[in-house]
Amino acid sequence: MQPLLPLCVFWLLPLARTLEEDSPLDSVPRRSVPYHRDNGHLFHEEGVFNYSTMLLREDLDLLLLGAREAVYALDLKDISKKRGSVKWEVSQQQEDECKNKGKDPETQCKNYIRILHQTEDNRMYVCGTNAFDPECDYMSYANGKLTLEKKGEDGKGKCPFDPFQRYASIMVENNLYSATSMNFLGSQPVLMRSSPTSVRTEFKSSWLHEPSFVSMTQMPESYMSEEGDDDKVYLFFSETAVECDCYNKLVVSRVARVCKGDLGGQRTLQKKWTSFLKARMDCPVLESQLPYIIQDTYYLCNPQQHWKDCLFYAVFTPQSGTSDLSAVCAYRVSDISRVFAEGKYKTPVPVETSFVKWVMYSGDVPVPRPGSCIDNAARKAGINQTLDLPDRTLQFVKDKPLMDQAIQPIGDKPLLVRRGATFARIIVNQVQAADGEKYHVMFIGTEEGTMLKAVNYDGEMFIIEEVQLFKPPEPIKILKFSKVTGQLYAGSDYGAAQMPLATCGRSSSCMDCVLARDPYCGWDKVVRECVFLSDSPRGLIQSVKEGDASLCPDADPVKPMNRSIWPQGNLKLQCPSPSNLAKTSWWRDGSPLTESTRLQLLQDGSALILNATESDAGRYRCLSVERPKADTYTTTVAEYLVSVAPAGSDNRNGILPQAQMDGPSVAGLQALVGLLVVALLALLAWNFYKGHIPLPWNCAKKNAEQSQETHEQSGLDAYQDAVRCAPADDKALVSGANYSSSTNHTGREAAFSVAEEGSDSTKVTLQYIDDESVI
Ligand SMILES: *[C@@H]1O[C@H](CO)[C@@H](O)[C@H](O)[C@H]1NC(C)=O
Ligand SMILES: *[C@@H]1O[C@H](CO)[C@@H](O)[C@H](O)[C@H]1NC(C)=O
Ligand SMILES: *[C@@H]1O[C@H](CO)[C@@H](O)[C@H](O)[C@H]1NC(C)=O
Ligand SMILES: *[C@@H]1O[C@H](CO)[C@@H](O)[C@H](O)[C@H]1NC(C)=O
Repeated sequence: MQPLLPLCVFWLLPLARTLEEDSPLDSVPRRSVPYHRDNGHLFHEEGVFNYSTMLLREDLDLLLLGAREAVYALDLKDISKKRGSVKWEVSQQQEDECKNKGKDPETQCKNYIRILHQTEDNRMYVCGTNAFDPECDYMSYANGKLTLEKKGEDGKGKCPFDPFQRYASIMVENNLYSATSMNFLGSQPVLMRSSPTSVRTEFKSSWLHEPSFVSMTQMPESYMSEEGDDDKVYLFFSETAVECDCYNKLVVSRVARVCKGDLGGQRTLQKKWTSFLKARMDCPVLESQLPYIIQDTYYLCNPQQHWKDCLFYAVFTPQSGTSDLSAVCAYRVSDISRVFAEGKYKTPVPVETSFVKWVMYSGDVPVPRPGSCIDNAARKAGINQTLDLPDRTLQFVKDKPLMDQAIQPIGDKPLLVRRGATFARIIVNQVQAADGEKYHVMFIGTEEGTMLKAVNYDGEMFIIEEVQLFKPPEPIKILKFSKVTGQLYAGSDYGAAQMPLATCGRSSSCMDCVLARDPYCGWDKVVRECVFLSDSPRGLIQSVKEGDASLCPDADPVKPMNRSIWPQGNLKLQCPSPSNLAKTSWWRDGSPLTESTRLQLLQDGSALILNATESDAGRYRCLSVERPKADTYTTTVAEYLVSVAPAGSDNRNGILPQAQMDGPSVAGLQALVGLLVVALLALLAWNFYKGHIPLPWNCAKKNAEQSQETHEQSGLDAYQDAVRCAPADDKALVSGANYSSSTNHTGREAAFSVAEEGSDSTKVTLQYIDDESVI
């Protein structure tokens, strides 16, 4: 037996925790808001695309927006108002050269603005991909005019060549820190500081291995530091794992950091970071799942808070093609900092030919500690700058930049999991609700062009709403928040949108306002409106944790609407419930309506009366029942007085009841149902044929085959087989208790069930290596 060889061994959770029978894996937004012009101000310029770079200039009341071949200065309060713009196009010669190197003239050989930062003299530093030949420039704004200085600085290492490649950058004390690829082919990734003494990463796969850069943040770790520590710059990214010995490529999430005062080494690591350390970041969504991949982060920190108490929120998506769940995890800065300051290192160990394993290093660690900043202890030892560091320390960090320990999220599990929406960007805002508590509200931009607004109330995931920001459902590429205006700004390929933190007016009743559980909104009894908390001088009705609507005054009775119908006609009665979490029910003259051949209750809550008879006349009421916690709240959504015209009456001289045209004819409906049944059967047959749905005998066969094989299959394949040949129960895999229990969503699929304990032939055998001594 070859025990360790082909299996991915390192990312798994220590033990499978017991699975909860019916915790819903995903949260459903309570309210879905389709695209509407009033959802927020929009900016789009005819013929210009890719609005994916932003800089807030609150000092100038401007939002700087970088697009393809253009930069715009927009009114921060209303981005539909343009205050200035400047074009930055590539020349014909540059475009031709780019084309001659085999790039596409229409998409790649353009100038995509990628970097926009404020400089200390209040100008702006801007870089663009410039037809695969990145260039940077200074830009200023004065008297309503945006001007480029045409300095033509080389942008290599600062800005990507390839507009489709992800990158990150930050300006700290007029020094640009950039994470991107340095060459045309995109094969030389760097984290670089452009300063009088430029410093960058080594070109070694143990430093950066096919990375996808996500974000950067400055961390003031020198502040009140007893050790005399230095400030740092954190970099979040994902990369192909070097420490995974599997055949398939596996992408992991990382945080790396460097010291601001780093000047590189004297002989070893000349002009390279002496303080580059990185660690894996986990966001465990499912038991024994492949690691999730980081896509964006948000640094949540109050000005009066110590940096150690601040948080990083991050959005994660699965390895390509393995699931359709997205997640949010939150991390304490102190947890990240501790791993770098005190954690153990990983070290490469050669096993067999050309095979390297990464295991925990348990030997002696040189002093000063490799990768640490120059602190009081180092200075005491006569080491005043990184140039004075001994070779032993430098050689260690050059070979072993990876920490052994991974960084775990707060609570060891995600704050939010959602199926079917791909999380792309995140902003978090802290708000004090009417109960005096402070809540962290997450605003998540998705690949589907929606903005989710969600809160985790003591472990309960709750999505307040989902707003469609752009008419074409374009992925959200950038998200910013201004504390000055209290507005969110989102950019996509198609345009930019601005959105307030809350639109309380979407709730028209007290019940809906309270059940929305939006910490920004409350019901004002005097003006009878759902209003922004901070706008109201009075105490408002709000109950974010419980959704307790019992304090609401009785709602105004719903005005009944008259509907008439001809005998044998069809009539559709609408029931527009404000909540996706509510169930609707229909009543006629005080008794509940049940479905029959002539009465259908549709998915959207409406009721359809077919082939009417006189007995269908009456008072119809549609109720919406919502159950935020223990209590149940019922509201009347609509009421109809339905009358049936006498059978003999002549409908030629009257106006045809509109309802008659509303519903589909019975014959049409029957045909439709027949068609659907045929289609469903065909689909089912095809799925069986393709093996997407396991037949019991197929799985048994597969299991038998597999146990005979010497385990040559890679870990990933084995995992996928395990998934396909799962027993047909659809138990959701949840990494812990307390996932939202407020939803009554039942549309879970069986796609994520894996083999249970008993069926061990399909299980992936996994082992840990904790120590070098194992090998
Ligand atoms: C720019 O926008 C166009 C149009 O929406 C899109 O097709 C293209 O992929 C975008 N390019 C980049 C680099 O995002
Ligand atoms: C480090 O700085 C101290 C005080 O500034 C100085 O006395 C010492 O000589 C310096 N050491 C080196 C190696 O430059
Ligand atoms: C509905 O019909 C009733 C009598 O059938 C009438 O009193 C009432 O005014 C009508 N309501 C509307 C809104 O037309
Ligand atoms: C409608 O109902 C009448 C009896 O009330 C029946 O004769 C007729 O066949 C029905 N029509 C359809 C399409 O079901």
